[in-house]
Amino acid sequence: MNLARQIEQYLPQPLLELVKNISGQAAKQGQRVYLVGGIVRDLLLGYPNFDLDLVVEGDAVKLAQQVAKTGQAKLLAHHRFGTAKLRYENFSLDLATARKETYARPGALPAVTPGTLNDDLIRRDFSINAMAISLAAKDYGNLIDPHHGKTDLEHRLIRILHPGSFSDDATRILRGVCYEQRFGFEFEAETARLLKRDIPMLDTISGDRIRHELEHIFEEKRPELVIKRLGELGVLRRINPALKGDDWIAEAFDKARRLKKPTQLPSLYFCLLVYSLSEKEIEQFLARLNIPAKLSRAMRDTLRLKTRLPLLDKPSLKPSEIYHLLQEYEPVAIQANALATESPTARRHLQLFLTKLRYVRTSLDGEELKRLGIPPGPEMGKVLQALHKAKLDGEVRTRANEKKLALSLWRKL
Ligand code: CTP
Repeated sequence: MNLARQIEQYLPQPLLELVKNISGQAAKQGQRVYLVGGIVRDLLLGYPNFDLDLVVEGDAVKLAQQVAKTGQAKLLAHHRFGTAKLRYENFSLDLATARKETYARPGALPAVTPGTLNDDLIRRDFSINAMAISLAAKDYGNLIDPHHGKTDLEHRLIRILHPGSFSDDATRILRGVCYEQRFGFEFEAETARLLKRDIPMLDTISGDRIRHELEHIFEEKRPELVIKRLGELGVLRRINPALKGDDWIAEAFDKARRLKKPTQLPSLYFCLLVYSLSEKEIEQFLARLNIPAKLSRAMRDTLRLKTRLPLLDKPSLKPSEIYHLLQEYEPVAIQANALATESPTARRHLQLFLTKLRYVRTSLDGEELKRLGIPPGPEMGKVLQALHKAKLDGEVRTRANEKKLALSLWRKL
């Protein structure tokens, strides 16, 4: 099968020009270069994908340097392990020297040696990700499919390439479920059996790698489908015994995504994922996944705020009281609670803080108070605080009002 037409049709012009340039330079150097992995799968499916991965039989860094010399693309990075990144206009593209991989033990990072295209394809996770397209002039666009990925795509199946695949690298369990849900595919029967058998092998995977896979899942269009399925399969339980992928989580994720301006959506998903955990269980989760400091704070805040929600459930709260209750929490933790709470009053207060109160500033600052004759010191601090409170509660609106209030507060102090 030849995919030259699909390449021309789906790739944006700048990427197409870059691919042609690479192909031309490779021919000059006597190297063979191929499109591989997700882009091949997505070209066959007709899915938009501008993340191009190229494999070079030879030396990817040398090829990338040669392409950069033509002045078309910029060489962003290159590494000893034979990988390079090129950038052209708004697009970037990864080049890698074809490699052979062996796993010294389950879960370890593989040992890498240079290899052929076939070596590079057989080390991959699933047949649908183990196809290549030749970019050489003589067979440009030809599909190379030694593991019958195209047939599996047609039958909507996810299939590993050898029985040790999940135990070599158990992150493939998470990746597989991701593809299953993204494309609405099924696991081929033997793959499904081995996936279930090898769930305990997740224990061999480092926290950073598991976290990275979850981050990957949270970039999916509908991550709740993946999380729910991981729950059903017992994968979440293996990561932390208290994690659930139930209907509540699915609904909360769905609501999160529909927010008008979801800031830090992946962090919000993390906070919702641990919403029903106890303090101790959250600590176990943070340690297992080696969660970075800022996100750890947001997740701990989520739980702390959850226990304080009854304080926000009073209709008579003034804006300054709401501000006072919420100012110390990470915004994403407040957002998580706004999505999770059953109480419409608490939700209203949390939203008010997120959309308005946290941005309220007084018009006057310390410098201006000095000009009014108020000397710097703890008292000035008190005046500023009282001004802020009055502004939050709508008691002062204009600059002139603020000046008047500042002076009268100062006199009283
Ligand atoms: N791969 C693998 N095993 C892994 C991770 C990656 O075999 N644990 C291979 C797959 O062939 C995959 C390629 O490396 O296609 C690139 O990985 P990644 O960028 O994560 O996947 P893409 O297919 O490019 O992206 P996606 O599938 O999410 O669209």
